[in-house]
Amino acid sequence: MGKITFQFNSYLNYKRKGINVHHLHSPFAFDLVRKVVNDRRRYPDYQRIDLLRKQLRKDLTEVEVTDLGAGIGGQDNAPSHKSVAALYKNNSIRPKYGELLYRLVKYLQPGSILELGTSLGISTAYMAIANPGASVITVEGCEGIAQKAKENFARLGIYNVRQEIGNFDRLLETIIDRVPKLDMAFIDGNHRKDPTIRYFESCLLKSHNDTVLIFDDIHWSKEMNEAWNAICSHKSVTLTLDLFQFGLVFFKKELSKQDFIISY
Ligand SMILES: C[S@@+](CC[C@H](N)C(=O)[O-])C[C@H]1O[C@@H](n2cnc3c(N)ncnc32)[C@H](O)[C@@H]1O
Repeated sequence: MGKITFQFNSYLNYKRKGINVHHLHSPFAFDLVRKVVNDRRRYPDYQRIDLLRKQLRKDLTEVEVTDLGAGIGGQDNAPSHKSVAALYKNNSIRPKYGELLYRLVKYLQPGSILELGTSLGISTAYMAIANPGASVITVEGCEGIAQKAKENFARLGIYNVRQEIGNFDRLLETIIDRVPKLDMAFIDGNHRKDPTIRYFESCLLKSHNDTVLIFDDIHWSKEMNEAWNAICSHKSVTLTLDLFQFGLVFFKKELSKQDFIISY
Protein backbone atom coordinates (compact mmCIF):
# COMPACT_ATOMS: atom_id res chain seq x y z
CA MET A 1 0.00 0.00 0.00
CA GLY A 2 1.38 3.47 -0.94
CA LYS A 3 1.95 6.12 1.74
CA ILE A 4 -0.92 8.34 0.59
CA THR A 5 -3.39 5.43 0.63
CA PHE A 6 -2.07 4.42 4.04
CA GLN A 7 -2.56 7.95 5.39
CA PHE A 8 -6.04 8.19 3.87
CA ASN A 9 -7.13 4.87 5.41
CA SER A 10 -5.61 5.83 8.76
CA TYR A 11 -7.54 9.10 8.70
CA LEU A 12 -10.82 7.34 7.93
CA ASN A 13 -10.13 4.94 10.78
CA TYR A 14 -9.37 7.86 13.11
CA LYS A 15 -12.58 9.67 12.11
CA ARG A 16 -14.60 6.51 12.72
CA LYS A 17 -13.09 5.74 16.13
CA GLY A 18 -12.43 9.23 17.54
CA ILE A 19 -14.43 10.04 20.66
CA ASN A 20 -15.22 13.36 22.31
CA VAL A 21 -14.63 14.57 25.85
CA HIS A 22 -17.97 13.27 27.19
CA HIS A 23 -16.88 9.68 26.64
CA LEU A 24 -13.81 10.04 28.83
CA HIS A 25 -14.12 8.54 32.28
CA SER A 26 -10.58 9.24 33.44
CA PRO A 27 -10.76 12.61 35.30
CA PHE A 28 -7.20 13.48 34.23
CA ALA A 29 -7.92 12.80 30.54
CA PHE A 30 -11.31 14.55 30.78
CA ASP A 31 -9.74 17.72 32.21
CA LEU A 32 -6.86 17.68 29.73
CA VAL A 33 -9.15 17.33 26.73
CA ARG A 34 -11.75 19.83 27.98
CA LYS A 35 -9.32 22.50 29.22
CA VAL A 36 -6.45 22.09 26.76
CA VAL A 37 -7.28 20.16 23.59
CA ASN A 38 -10.71 21.80 23.19
CA ASP A 39 -9.67 25.29 24.34
CA ARG A 40 -10.65 27.55 21.40
CA ARG A 41 -9.53 30.85 22.95
CA ARG A 42 -7.13 32.96 20.89
CA TYR A 43 -4.13 33.71 23.11
CA PRO A 44 -2.28 36.96 22.25
CA ASP A 45 1.01 34.99 22.10
CA TYR A 46 -0.31 33.18 18.99
CA GLN A 47 -0.15 36.50 17.10
CA ARG A 48 3.59 36.88 17.77
CA ILE A 49 4.23 33.57 16.05
CA ASP A 50 1.71 34.26 13.27
CA LEU A 51 3.67 37.40 12.45
CA LEU A 52 6.89 35.40 12.14
CA ARG A 53 5.05 32.82 10.00
CA LYS A 54 4.08 35.61 7.56
CA GLN A 55 7.72 36.68 7.22
CA LEU A 56 9.03 33.13 6.73
CA ARG A 57 6.41 32.38 4.08
CA LYS A 58 7.94 35.15 1.92
CA ASP A 59 11.62 34.58 2.76
CA LEU A 60 13.48 33.37 -0.33
CA THR A 61 16.92 33.19 1.36
CA GLU A 62 18.63 29.92 0.41
CA VAL A 63 19.77 27.53 3.14
CA GLU A 64 22.07 24.53 2.75
CA VAL A 65 20.05 21.52 3.83
CA THR A 66 21.10 18.02 4.89
CA ASP A 67 18.16 15.73 5.55
CA LEU A 68 19.24 13.37 8.30
CA GLY A 69 15.76 11.92 8.63
CA ALA A 70 15.99 10.20 5.24
CA GLY A 71 19.57 8.95 5.68
CA ILE A 72 20.04 5.23 5.29
CA GLY A 73 22.02 3.23 7.83
CA GLY A 74 23.10 6.36 9.69
CA GLN A 75 24.57 7.97 6.55
CA ASP A 76 23.36 11.45 5.78
CA ASN A 77 22.11 12.59 2.38
CA ALA A 78 24.20 14.96 0.27
CA PRO A 79 23.34 18.61 1.00
CA SER A 80 20.97 20.57 -1.24
CA HIS A 81 19.66 24.13 -1.13
CA LYS A 82 16.17 25.21 -0.15
CA SER A 83 14.58 28.57 0.51
CA VAL A 84 13.36 29.44 3.99
CA ALA A 85 9.87 29.72 2.47
CA ALA A 86 10.07 26.12 1.19
CA LEU A 87 11.39 24.84 4.52
CA TYR A 88 8.60 26.67 6.30
CA LYS A 89 5.98 25.19 3.99
CA ASN A 90 7.29 21.61 4.20
CA ASN A 91 8.53 21.32 7.78
CA SER A 92 6.90 23.78 10.15
CA ILE A 93 4.09 22.76 12.42
CA ARG A 94 0.59 23.96 11.46
CA PRO A 95 -0.99 26.57 13.77
CA LYS A 96 -3.61 24.10 15.04
CA TYR A 97 -0.92 21.79 16.48
CA GLY A 98 1.56 24.52 17.44
CA GLU A 99 -1.17 26.19 19.46
CA LEU A 100 -1.95 22.85 21.10
CA LEU A 101 1.72 22.56 22.15
CA TYR A 102 1.45 26.06 23.61
CA ARG A 103 -1.66 25.13 25.64
CA LEU A 104 -0.13 21.84 26.81
CA VAL A 105 2.88 23.70 28.16
CA LYS A 106 0.69 26.37 29.78
CA TYR A 107 -1.45 23.71 31.47
CA LEU A 108 1.18 21.13 32.46
CA GLN A 109 3.92 23.70 33.28
CA PRO A 110 6.90 21.48 32.40
CA GLY A 111 10.17 22.93 33.68
CA SER A 112 12.40 20.91 31.35
CA ILE A 113 11.44 20.38 27.71
CA LEU A 114 13.31 18.49 25.01
CA GLU A 115 12.52 18.76 21.32
CA LEU A 116 13.96 16.56 18.59
CA GLY A 117 13.59 18.40 15.25
CA THR A 118 13.91 22.20 15.53
CA SER A 119 13.69 23.10 11.85
CA LEU A 120 12.95 26.87 11.78
CA GLY A 121 11.98 26.83 15.45
CA ILE A 122 8.24 27.32 15.13
CA SER A 123 7.16 24.48 17.44
CA THR A 124 10.03 25.40 19.80
CA ALA A 125 8.69 28.95 19.94
CA TYR A 126 5.18 27.85 20.98
CA MET A 127 6.63 25.80 23.85
CA ALA A 128 9.23 28.36 24.96
CA ILE A 129 6.78 31.27 24.94
CA ALA A 130 4.13 29.31 26.86
CA ASN A 131 6.47 28.96 29.84
CA PRO A 132 9.40 31.41 29.80
CA GLY A 133 10.58 29.81 33.06
CA ALA A 134 11.07 26.43 31.38
CA SER A 135 14.40 25.37 29.99
CA VAL A 136 13.97 24.11 26.43
CA ILE A 137 16.60 22.05 24.63
CA THR A 138 16.01 21.64 20.91
CA VAL A 139 18.06 19.44 18.58
CA GLU A 140 18.52 19.94 14.83
CA GLY A 141 20.86 18.03 12.56
CA CYS A 142 21.15 20.59 9.80
CA GLU A 143 23.44 23.48 10.71
CA GLY A 144 22.01 25.97 8.16
CA ILE A 145 18.45 25.39 9.37
CA ALA A 146 19.50 25.64 13.02
CA GLN A 147 21.08 29.03 12.28
CA LYS A 148 17.75 30.25 10.85
CA ALA A 149 15.97 28.98 13.97
CA LYS A 150 18.44 30.94 16.10
CA GLU A 151 17.54 34.13 14.21
CA ASN A 152 13.86 33.38 14.71
CA PHE A 153 14.26 32.97 18.49
CA ALA A 154 16.02 36.34 18.59
CA ARG A 155 13.23 37.97 16.55
CA LEU A 156 10.67 36.63 19.01
CA GLY A 157 12.70 37.62 22.07
CA ILE A 158 12.98 34.00 23.25
CA TYR A 159 15.85 33.36 25.68
CA ASN A 160 14.97 30.05 27.32
CA VAL A 161 16.00 27.79 24.40
CA ARG A 162 19.31 25.97 24.13
CA GLN A 163 20.09 24.68 20.64
CA GLU A 164 22.07 21.51 20.02
CA ILE A 165 23.24 20.81 16.48
CA GLY A 166 23.89 17.27 15.26
CA ASN A 167 22.33 13.91 14.61
CA PHE A 168 19.83 12.84 17.30
CA ASP A 169 21.49 9.44 17.35
CA ARG A 170 24.81 11.00 18.26
CA LEU A 171 23.60 13.65 20.73
CA LEU A 172 20.61 12.21 22.53
CA GLU A 173 22.45 9.98 24.99
CA THR A 174 24.62 12.85 26.27
CA ILE A 175 21.69 15.25 26.47
CA ILE A 176 19.60 12.75 28.43
CA ASP A 177 22.58 12.00 30.66
CA ARG A 178 22.97 15.67 31.54
CA VAL A 179 19.35 16.64 32.28
CA PRO A 180 18.24 15.87 35.83
CA LYS A 181 14.71 15.07 34.64
CA LEU A 182 12.49 15.35 31.59
CA ASP A 183 9.04 16.90 32.05
CA MET A 184 8.10 17.06 28.37
CA ALA A 185 9.56 15.89 25.08
CA PHE A 186 8.34 16.62 21.57
CA ILE A 187 9.67 14.13 19.02
CA ASP A 188 9.37 15.63 15.54
CA GLY A 189 12.12 14.31 13.30
CA ASN A 190 13.39 11.09 11.72
CA HIS A 191 9.91 9.61 11.33
CA ARG A 192 10.91 5.96 11.14
CA LYS A 193 10.01 3.05 13.36
CA ASP A 194 13.25 1.95 15.03
CA PRO A 195 14.68 5.43 15.65
CA THR A 196 11.34 6.60 17.07
CA ILE A 197 11.23 3.68 19.49
CA ARG A 198 14.88 4.35 20.42
CA TYR A 199 14.11 8.03 21.14
CA PHE A 200 11.16 6.94 23.28
CA GLU A 201 13.41 4.55 25.24
CA SER A 202 16.04 7.27 25.74
CA CYS A 203 13.42 9.70 27.04
CA LEU A 204 12.16 7.02 29.45
CA LEU A 205 15.48 7.17 31.30
CA LYS A 206 14.63 10.64 32.68
CA SER A 207 10.84 10.45 32.61
CA HIS A 208 8.79 10.47 35.82
CA ASN A 209 5.20 10.24 36.94
CA ASP A 210 4.23 13.64 35.44
CA THR A 211 6.21 13.50 32.19
CA VAL A 212 4.42 13.84 28.87
CA LEU A 213 5.97 12.66 25.61
CA ILE A 214 4.48 13.96 22.38
CA PHE A 215 5.10 12.19 19.08
CA ASP A 216 4.37 13.92 15.80
CA ASP A 217 3.06 12.18 12.66
CA ILE A 218 2.12 8.94 14.39
CA HIS A 219 0.03 7.80 11.38
CA TRP A 220 2.29 9.27 8.68
CA SER A 221 3.46 5.82 7.53
CA LYS A 222 3.05 2.15 8.38
CA GLU A 223 6.39 2.33 10.22
CA MET A 224 5.29 5.27 12.36
CA ASN A 225 2.00 3.53 13.08
CA GLU A 226 3.93 0.49 14.29
CA ALA A 227 6.20 2.67 16.41
CA TRP A 228 3.13 4.31 17.97
CA ASN A 229 1.55 0.93 18.74
CA ALA A 230 4.79 -0.28 20.34
CA ILE A 231 4.96 2.86 22.50
CA CYS A 232 1.29 2.52 23.55
CA SER A 233 1.86 -1.04 24.69
CA HIS A 234 5.06 -0.32 26.67
CA LYS A 235 4.63 -1.43 30.29
CA SER A 236 5.45 1.97 31.81
CA VAL A 237 2.82 3.83 29.73
CA THR A 238 -0.52 4.27 31.49
CA LEU A 239 -2.41 6.71 29.25
CA THR A 240 -2.17 7.59 25.57
CA LEU A 241 -4.18 10.10 23.56
CA ASP A 242 -4.20 9.73 19.78
CA LEU A 243 -5.11 13.07 18.14
CA PHE A 244 -4.21 11.71 14.69
CA GLN A 245 -1.21 13.94 14.05
CA PHE A 246 0.00 13.94 17.66
CA GLY A 247 0.27 11.03 20.06
CA LEU A 248 0.46 12.00 23.74
CA VAL A 249 2.00 9.57 26.22
CA PHE A 250 1.64 9.69 30.03
CA PHE A 251 3.16 7.57 32.80
CA LYS A 252 0.94 8.42 35.77
CA LYS A 253 0.96 5.36 38.00
CA GLU A 254 -2.35 6.33 39.61
CA LEU A 255 -4.16 5.82 36.27
CA SER A 256 -5.30 2.45 35.03
CA LYS A 257 -4.01 1.67 31.53
CA GLN A 258 -6.09 3.35 28.81
CA ASP A 259 -5.56 4.34 25.15
CA PHE A 260 -7.98 6.92 23.75
CA ILE A 261 -8.52 8.15 20.21
CA ILE A 262 -9.72 11.74 20.59
CA SER A 263 -11.48 13.80 17.90
CA TYR A 264 -9.49 16.98 17.37
C1 LIG B 1 9.44 18.12 10.68
S1 LIG B 1 10.90 19.02 10.93
C2 LIG B 1 10.67 19.75 12.52
C3 LIG B 1 9.62 20.83 12.51
C4 LIG B 1 9.59 21.66 13.76
N1 LIG B 1 9.43 20.84 14.94
C5 LIG B 1 8.41 22.62 13.69
O1 LIG B 1 7.30 22.14 13.74
O2 LIG B 1 8.60 23.82 13.55
C6 LIG B 1 12.08 17.78 11.31
C7 LIG B 1 13.52 18.30 11.48
O3 LIG B 1 14.29 17.26 12.07
C8 LIG B 1 15.58 17.24 11.50
N2 LIG B 1 16.05 15.86 11.59
C9 LIG B 1 15.48 14.75 11.05
N3 LIG B 1 16.16 13.64 11.39
C10 LIG B 1 17.19 14.06 12.18
C11 LIG B 1 18.25 13.39 12.88
N4 LIG B 1 18.38 12.06 12.80
N5 LIG B 1 19.09 14.12 13.60
C12 LIG B 1 18.98 15.47 13.67
N6 LIG B 1 18.00 16.18 13.05
C13 LIG B 1 17.13 15.48 12.31
C14 LIG B 1 15.39 17.71 10.06
O4 LIG B 1 16.57 18.32 9.59
C15 LIG B 1 14.20 18.67 10.18
O5 LIG B 1 14.63 20.00 10.24
